[in-house]
Amino acid sequence: MSFITNIQNANVMIIGASQGIGLGFIKKLLQDEKVSKIYATYRNQNTAEELLSLAEKYPDKLTCLIMDITEESQIITSIQHISTEVDKLHLVINCVGLLHDNNIQPEKSLKHINSENLLRYFQINSIGAVLLAKHLLPLFRHKELSVFATISAKVGSIGDNQLGGWYGYRASKAALNMLMRNVAIEYKRTCPQTLVVMLHPGTTDTRLSRPFQRNVPPEKLFSVERTVSQLLTVIEQLQEGDSGEFFSWDGSKLPW
Ligand SMILES: NC(=O)c1ccc[n+]([C@@H]2O[C@H](COP(=O)([O-])OP(=O)(O)OC[C@H]3O[C@@H](n4cnc5c(N)ncnc54)[C@H](OP(=O)(O)O)[C@@H]3O)[C@@H](O)[C@H]2O)c1
Repeated sequence: MSFITNIQNANVMIIGASQGIGLGFIKKLLQDEKVSKIYATYRNQNTAEELLSLAEKYPDKLTCLIMDITEESQIITSIQHISTEVDKLHLVINCVGLLHDNNIQPEKSLKHINSENLLRYFQINSIGAVLLAKHLLPLFRHKELSVFATISAKVGSIGDNQLGGWYGYRASKAALNMLMRNVAIEYKRTCPQTLVVMLHPGTTDTRLSRPFQRNVPPEKLFSVERTVSQLLTVIEQLQEGDSGEFFSWDGSKLPW
């Protein structure tokens, strides 16, 4: 890789690195000699065993921090920790997302709508990202090119929605896109070297997509390794005017 090609000693932060696409970024970036520090966040030790064992293997390069993205105090504590070690970040990728868990299944129709679940989707998929943007700002106030990417989803595109369903997930990703578009506009004034982008990874073989993979043709179901390489290529090819845009895994722009 990478967009970091011209930067020596890049500092990276991956949020939601316990599994899936986030863990894939960690594995790939650990092998990149241009990256000197990686800060990885997780919220639950039980799902982060592989990540934590990588931190034991690469203690100088990888630091793991606890962060539930719905708790602003944990966001603050993690970022404070990072600030004691480095004064700038070059690449931040927010990989946190919720589609289903033990308590929530995506709504197939209006009869499944439940305000508590809707709030949970927005808390994790939308609000967490803008809280990150609020507290990361000081670490992006520097003169080197940097990228703040958030993994969104094509199903969050309002213009592209032909199928319906998945009310909470779709709406929370649409809200994420609007919040991060706003962040891009404000960052342009406060830290103009930072590009803020939303990325659609394509259907990727992770816990999140597993119950819904049945109708996905094999060539459209990406391995985590493939998704990570594709998204790093998109990041690498970003241009100055790309801040605030919503990109698919192949670098094409998606409709709002
Ligand atoms: N896989 C796909 O096909 C696909 C398609 C389009 C978009 N996406 C998006 O890609 C991103 C990564 O998803 P994935 O496929 O890698 O799913 P995943 O394997 O389920 O990973 C989701 C990550 O989010 C973390 N997370 C969930 N709730 C959190 C919270 N409250 N605070 C902090 N972390 C939390 C999880 O941590 P725990 O281990 O603690 O649960 C996990 O690290 C998500 O934004 C997802 O919406 C995925």
